[in-house]
Amino acid sequence: MDKVLVTRAVFPEVLDRLSGYFEVEFNPDDQVWTRSQLVERLQGKAGAFITGSERVDAELLAACPDLRAVCTMAVGYNNIDVEACTARGVWVTNTPDVLTETTADFGFALMMAAARRLSEAERYLRRGEWRKWHYDQLMGADVHGATLGILGMGRIGQAIARRGALGFGMEVVYHNRTRLPLEAEGAVNARWVDKATLLRESDHLVLVVPYSATSHHMIGEAELALMKPTATLTNIARGGVVDDAALAKALRAGRIAAAGLDVYEGEPHPNPALLDLPNVVLSPHIASSSVSTRRAMADLAAGNLIAALGCGPRAGRPPTPVNPGPTGRP
Ligand code: GLV
Repeated sequence: MDKVLVTRAVFPEVLDRLSGYFEVEFNPDDQVWTRSQLVERLQGKAGAFITGSERVDAELLAACPDLRAVCTMAVGYNNIDVEACTARGVWVTNTPDVLTETTADFGFALMMAAARRLSEAERYLRRGEWRKWHYDQLMGADVHGATLGILGMGRIGQAIARRGALGFGMEVVYHNRTRLPLEAEGAVNARWVDKATLLRESDHLVLVVPYSATSHHMIGEAELALMKPTATLTNIARGGVVDDAALAKALRAGRIAAAGLDVYEGEPHPNPALLDLPNVVLSPHIASSSVSTRRAMADLAAGNLIAALGCGPRAGRPPTPVNPGPTGRP
């Protein structure tokens, strides 16, 4: 029986399922292991069920020669050096699709909360400052009928565009490396624009672009300067896509109206400059966290691990691979 490591706490039913195929070592206390603790626990393991918190790179692979599959319970895999895994014939899998609608719901909620100053309003009320109705009390920006900008028009971007166009009568502009086919643009009433136009035209800009060297600080001081002072910015992509220090400065100066953030540079320790700003809604990287979606992600990651290690009905054919696995070994 192959041995596998589950690096973080997960649903007990998922551990039970994995135990039907493998000898499973897991992390009942949900400690965030140091790099050397992780490498130590990976010795002799054929597979790893990981999350976005663990970094898998060439150095780790070299130190863990028995590893044949790295299966993350996340759609994003910027923490995994896919090329290095492919070079060693190690499967990499992720959990796309199952989280698309849930993540889009949350992105939309954050965007609405930022536009309508929801967190600020709640803090005001909880502080006991609400004494009377006032004509301009906590006035925010409308979402319906406004221009929704989307940077990164993949599955989640398109799901957000659908919500905006079909549910809220928004005009949708987007920027993506590759343009959507006309039919897909039509389905969400979206118009491709260059990045500068996107920044200039958006009333509410939502970032859904994967993190990579190319998207690092894609939104910084210069980009924020192009946005409308009444605009909101929502980041559900990854920390690092936004220069958080520049964003905090822009929010403090009123360069843009508000932001909704689920992801940060240096998670789980957001830039302190963001924490005491009134005009930012902050959540701890939970966009995919609905009961059924987190369970679906864990089930998919487990299914990937089982199949990647040659077990179960899909042996050798993990449902959602990121790379070609052992056949990709040069
Ligand atoms: C969450 O950020 C994910 O990539 O699934």
